[in-house]
Amino acid sequence: MIKKGIILAGGLGTRMSPITKSVNKQLLPIYDKPMIFYPLSIMMLAGIKEILIIVNKGQISQFKKILKNGENLGIRILYKEQIKPGGLPEAFIIGEKFINNQSVALILGDNFFYAQSLTKTLQKSITLNNGAKVFLHPVKNPKSYGIATVNNNNKIIKLIEKPQKTKSNLAVTGLYFFDNNVVKLSKQLKPSKRKELEIIDLLNKYRLKNKLKAEFLGRGGAWLDAGSIEDYYDATSFVSTIEKRQGFKIACLEEVSLKKKWIDKKQIYENIKFYGNCEYSKYLKLLIS
Ligand code: TTP
Repeated sequence: MIKKGIILAGGLGTRMSPITKSVNKQLLPIYDKPMIFYPLSIMMLAGIKEILIIVNKGQISQFKKILKNGENLGIRILYKEQIKPGGLPEAFIIGEKFINNQSVALILGDNFFYAQSLTKTLQKSITLNNGAKVFLHPVKNPKSYGIATVNNNNKIIKLIEKPQKTKSNLAVTGLYFFDNNVVKLSKQLKPSKRKELEIIDLLNKYRLKNKLKAEFLGRGGAWLDAGSIEDYYDATSFVSTIEKRQGFKIACLEEVSLKKKWIDKKQIYENIKFYGNCEYSKYLKLLIS
């Protein structure tokens, strides 16, 4: 059972410059809350309470200002710095001590997921104790993504980064589940031409041992990598449309925690005091009224 999760929330955010010159991308708002709330809520929905957030050098205090040590959300949050963006698998090297001898989930800080029955799918995924699992989702422009080909048993048989030609349109999203070998395997990776450790190379190590499985968000599910201006605004308008129409919030951390009985109503009162008079607090008040 996977009990630990890493949110990789560093990166240069080049595609969103100049906005990201002075602010970490994951602290920008997606509609009514910071981007980091969304991947954090995914970890929490999966049932993961021990979380390591990896940020750029000098940024821990900014994240702590909003998320603290997680106690107010009924979870435990630790922070570590990544000195410079050395690629996604660095998460497992930086997080070695945190991971210890356990399996671990990884989510990218700028990835947005929304799908029916997602909680059930996530809860199934954390039962992994051998091999690795990635979430795949169809995309229109496979040339821009890591693309997987799967067989009938949902085993991944081919994995190519930004293929020029491919029959599959299944992109590897930013949500992964790994057994404990991930630390050792990440350390074996060599930097690519762009001088980063590549997640596709890591996944290929599992695939070659026939140990890489696929999971799907399902038709109608949404996956956005909010790393470009276009996708960022798409994510914002997606959240605003759903929240206005259906009257509930996506990625309200307290709501997830309350449902799981990790916090009580008293804690939510405290959090309302902390956030102050805002729409988010009004929503929290409704939850406990
Ligand atoms: P990317 O989108 O690959 O990189 P980026 O966020 O720096 O953006 P850009 O390409 O515009 O410069 O990263 C995906 C996510 O992973 C994002 O949330 C940042 C995070 N990340 C790290 O924290 N460390 C890293 O070394 C890399 C490569 C990414």
